This record gives sequence, C-alpha cells and structure tokens, in this order.
Amino acid sequence: MSGDRRIPVEAPAPAGEPRRIGVALAGASGRVGRAFAALLAARTDALRTRGLELPLVGVARSRGWRWDAAGLAHSGPHDGFAGAAAGSIAGFLERARAHDGPLVLVDCTASEDVAAASPALLADGIAVVTANKLGSAGTLARWRELHANATAGAAPYRHSATVGAGMPVLATVRRLRRRGERVRTLRAVLSGSLSAVLSAVQDGAAFSDAVADARARGCTEPHPGDDLSGEDVARKLLIVLREGGLPVERAQLRVEPLVPAGLLRERDPEAFLRALPSFDDAWRARAEDAARSGRRLAFVAEFDGTLARAEVRALPESDTLATLRPGENRVELTTDVHDTVPLAISGPGAGPEVTAANVLSDLLDVARGAWGARYDAEGGVSRAASA
Ligand SMILES: NC(=O)c1ccc[n+]([C@@H]2O[C@H](COP(=O)([O-])OP(=O)(O)OC[C@H]3O[C@@H](n4cnc5c(N)ncnc54)[C@H](OP(=O)(O)O)[C@@H]3O)[C@@H](O)[C@H]2O)c1
Repeated sequence: MSGDRRIPVEAPAPAGEPRRIGVALAGASGRVGRAFAALLAARTDALRTRGLELPLVGVARSRGWRWDAAGLAHSGPHDGFAGAAAGSIAGFLERARAHDGPLVLVDCTASEDVAAASPALLADGIAVVTANKLGSAGTLARWRELHANATAGAAPYRHSATVGAGMPVLATVRRLRRRGERVRTLRAVLSGSLSAVLSAVQDGAAFSDAVADARARGCTEPHPGDDLSGEDVARKLLIVLREGGLPVERAQLRVEPLVPAGLLRERDPEAFLRALPSFDDAWRARAEDAARSGRRLAFVAEFDGTLARAEVRALPESDTLATLRPGENRVELTTDVHDTVPLAISGPGAGPEVTAANVLSDLLDVARGAWGARYDAEGGVSRAASA
C-alpha cells in the first residue's frame, strides 16, 4: 500500500495575517447574547488557526454599552458593563457607524430600535447577523428595505436564528429558492416554547406551571405573552414564506392565540404569569378531549398554497407533528421537486445555546464570504474609503 492515508486532525493554517472583522454585540447581557459571547470566546483560538479573527469590539444592553476597537475581554460581557457608558442603544449604533474597518452587528435583542436601525447600517456597509425577528418579520416594506440595502451597501444580512433557533430552516429555503424551486406548501411546529407547554399539559401539568417552567428554562420570549399570542410563530411563518419568495404581510395570516386578547395587553411579564392559572381548567379539558380521541395537541403553522394560518390542532397520534419531543420543532415543505414526500427539517426549536450556535454560523458565513473577502483584499480599509 502506498501513500499516507491518515486524515490530519487539524487543517493547515492559511498563510498570512488572519482576516480581522469586528463584532458589535447588541443584547450582550441576554440569554442568547451571553451564550453567543461564550461560544465566540471558546472558538477564538480555533478560528485564528483558520485565518479568522473576530474580536468583540462593542457590547450593549438596554441601559448602556462599551466599545474598544482593540477588542473587549471575551470573558462574560454581561459582567463587563461596569465601565460601560450609560446610554441608549442609539449611541451604540452611532459608535458602530464610526468604527474604522469591517464590522458585523450581531443583534441578540428583541429591540424594535435595533431592528429599525438595521437597514441604514446595511446601507452603510455594516453586516447584520440577527436573532431578532422584528426586522425580517416587520412590514413587507421593511423586509424589502433590509434586502435592498444589504445589496446596495454590499453588506450581508443573515437571520438564520430567527426561525427554528439552531435548525437550518432559512438556509434550506434560501437554497431551494436560489435553484428556482417554489415552496408549494408548508406544515410546521415552529415554537419550541409552545410545543414544550402543550406537551407538559398533555402529560398532566397545569398550563400556568408549564408556561412558567418553559420561561425559567429560557425557552420563551422575554415576555411569554409573545409566545402565547401566537405572534412569535406568526413572525416565523412570515419569515419562512418571505424567504421562499412569497410577499406576505402579517394581516394575511390567521393566528389563534392561546390566551384571550385582553390578557395579552398586560405588558408586565410577572403580572401576565400571575393571571395564567385561570386558564388551567380549560387547557386540562382540551388535552383530555384530545387524548380520548387518540389525538395530541400541537400549535401548527401551515401554508396550504393559498392561505397561511397558525393554530392549536388536535392531531392523530401518528402525525409526524404530533410525535415531537418537548421543545422540538419540525418543518415539512413540499416544493416543485419534493412533491410527494415532504422535505423535513427537525431539531430543538429554542434555547440560548442552539440559537447562539446558529448566530455564529451566520457570522462565519458572512466573515468567510465575499463581503469578508472584499475587506481582506482591501487590507482592512475603512468602509467610508471603500464605499
Ligand atoms: N431564547 C431563545 O431560545 C431564542 C431563540 C431564537 C431567537 N431568539 C431571539 O433572540 C433575541 C434575544 O432573546 P433572549 O432570550 O436572549 O432575550 P433576553 O434574555 O431577554 O435578552 C434580551 C437582551 O436585549 C437587551 N435589550 C432589551 N431591550 C433592549 C433595547 N430596547 N435596546 C437594546 N437592548 C435591549 C437586553 O438588555 P438588558 O439586560 O439591559 O435588559 C438583553 O441584553 C430575541 O429577539 C429572541 O426572539 C431567542
């Protein structure tokens, strides 16, 4: 036998200086933001050996921010706000615009302010990687502006973590679309928190306890009403359909909330949780009814080719969407090619670590792609100079 067939454990390091791209993290004190910062820190050495340096140059939370173009210490940005300038996120975004060199804004907030500022940042050549659905699930006009400005500023916009947390849902839909394949229908469980809550209720837990437990495990939105309203699923459904090329507005989706609209107006999360026990009996009865007819409750998002809706359904126990584990999400798509057996993607649909991992994947796509290479080729010149 000739030749050495052993597979090297480490790829050889690329020659030359590593490509250096600054990372500005909004939402650094949150669950996803902390998990992302920890993951980035854990990958720093491995990335450097692969020719990539991604220093965390700015961190922000709702009440303040820090910036150091040389790179902030990676260890726990949530603890590192002591020296932070008290100030608004607007000040942080202004500082980001003044940064000299390539920059990616990583948005791990649920802030409308950051979402609203993203089109202008993209137009200014700052790449945006986001877990925040308020950008791409806003109006269709905002969706178009995000994508048009990303093209105009030649800066990528990536939002993989907005749907399915760590699952490659949007990446798959983007690939289908790129090869000219239409999404004909979609059936999905898109909420890890709602599937965890409905599973627990069907296993005998009180509805209110199931919601409180999902929140304590970091599996709900900061305000659990945003899950129970069905709005979080509506946003994900909008994003997937738009990514598939369908120009859908929120008003075209029919969405059934899990609690009455009156309670959803309570914006204090603690007061909201205190009101939930009054719905325990109704949910227990609904779960028992379903079980008597051999069915399981699931919050299903569906596009049947014409109409899109999201609602609780009692599915036969054999249905693929009824057999998911707590917190699991699944998306089933039929397309021009996948017309009899659907293309299915499943995995954990919530949780800070899997979400942060998808954010990191987007960041690496951006940094290694044409945008990152442009800066590399230009030797890290300022955006203003390269525009
Ligand atoms: N958790 C998940 O499993 C998951 C999965 C997929 C997507 N996501 C998305 O990821 C984002 C973050 O979720 P999370 O669970 O990490 O939330 P979180 O723990 O509540 O963290 C929110 C972060 O955003 C900051 N923030 C809040 N309002 C702000 C404002 N107006 N301006 C600037 N910063 C603001 C908070 O700062 P303070 O600490 O100062 O309040 C905190 O750093 C959300 O958009 C969520 O939908 C989450």
